[in-house]
Amino acid sequence: MIAHKRNNIKKRKEEIMKRRIFLTASASAAAGIAAVSCAKEPAPTTRKKLFSFVHYSDVHVQPEKGAKEGFLAAIEKMNSLKPDFALSGGDLVMDSLNVDEDRANLLYDMYIECCKSFAVPVYNVMGNHEVFGIYAPDKVPENHPDWGKELFKRRLGDGRTYRSFNHKGIHFLLLDSVGIEKNDGKPGHNYIGEIGQEQMAWVKSDLDAIPADMPVIAAAHIPLFTWWEQMLNGPTSPSARGTVLTDGKDLFDMLMARRFFGFLEGHIHINELYVYFGSKLIDTGAVAGGWWNGPRNGHPEGFNLVHVYEDGIENEYITYGWDASKYKQAMLDPEVFPLAGRTV
Ligand SMILES: [Fe+2]
Repeated sequence: MIAHKRNNIKKRKEEIMKRRIFLTASASAAAGIAAVSCAKEPAPTTRKKLFSFVHYSDVHVQPEKGAKEGFLAAIEKMNSLKPDFALSGGDLVMDSLNVDEDRANLLYDMYIECCKSFAVPVYNVMGNHEVFGIYAPDKVPENHPDWGKELFKRRLGDGRTYRSFNHKGIHFLLLDSVGIEKNDGKPGHNYIGEIGQEQMAWVKSDLDAIPADMPVIAAAHIPLFTWWEQMLNGPTSPSARGTVLTDGKDLFDMLMARRFFGFLEGHIHINELYVYFGSKLIDTGAVAGGWWNGPRNGHPEGFNLVHVYEDGIENEYITYGWDASKYKQAMLDPEVFPLAGRTV
């Protein structure tokens, strides 16, 4: 089994080298994206583009901080780019982990209402902040029908937390990257980055059911790879269990054995791009920037426009003009904002 997997990966690498798909990150670097590349690629004009879509993540919508207005402004910008569809990257609300039922439903209502402004279909990926009540055993009992992932399943996931679909010859995997575990004897639960055995088996069977040469793009909230911890604390620093997929290696191997165009992720709120044998791992900056307090570590509020070509994907990080400091000022001026100084 392992030898078979290695052969598939070797074959995939040889095919890529044969097709001379050279890699670059220059355009992304211009947009502030941390990038790793292996070589140069031909000018995009020589490649056939199939379609574009938007990947937006970490909206953290809430009544406070202008989040709703910011999200609507981002949607307007996304619509103007005329994508085929919008793919969310999780952390859609702020927050369900530690609130009661009324607050969680208010946030979900707000997100769903805002999404009605999209001019294109929206596919949702679940983030850790959509998980309901696991930090709050005093507010939400574990036997609540919406506890944990059930609220997302019911309201945004068509009864599921992971699924797949095809679009113009490309296979999309929308994954659940959030594992829930006991919190070291403390009350409540914790989340970690995890695919889990059951979902991993589903990914295998899902991929087995599509043609071997069909390109695959996967999306999850918690990253397969990020250099966030290493950038902050040095290259030998380990990533936290809530920062990356703790069981991501098997998933990565499974994807690399296919025509794996890329992995779209969020969670960190910064722009990152890794390129490995033509496959791109893209961590998308947040619509909310630093949780609606301004850019995070210099990474502004925005989303990715992803262009799909016959031989891979390219991404552009797009900002939408949000200025959290201006909004904060407006919040204090009753002439501009009648509910100044209040949270609603
Ligand atoms: Fe987030």
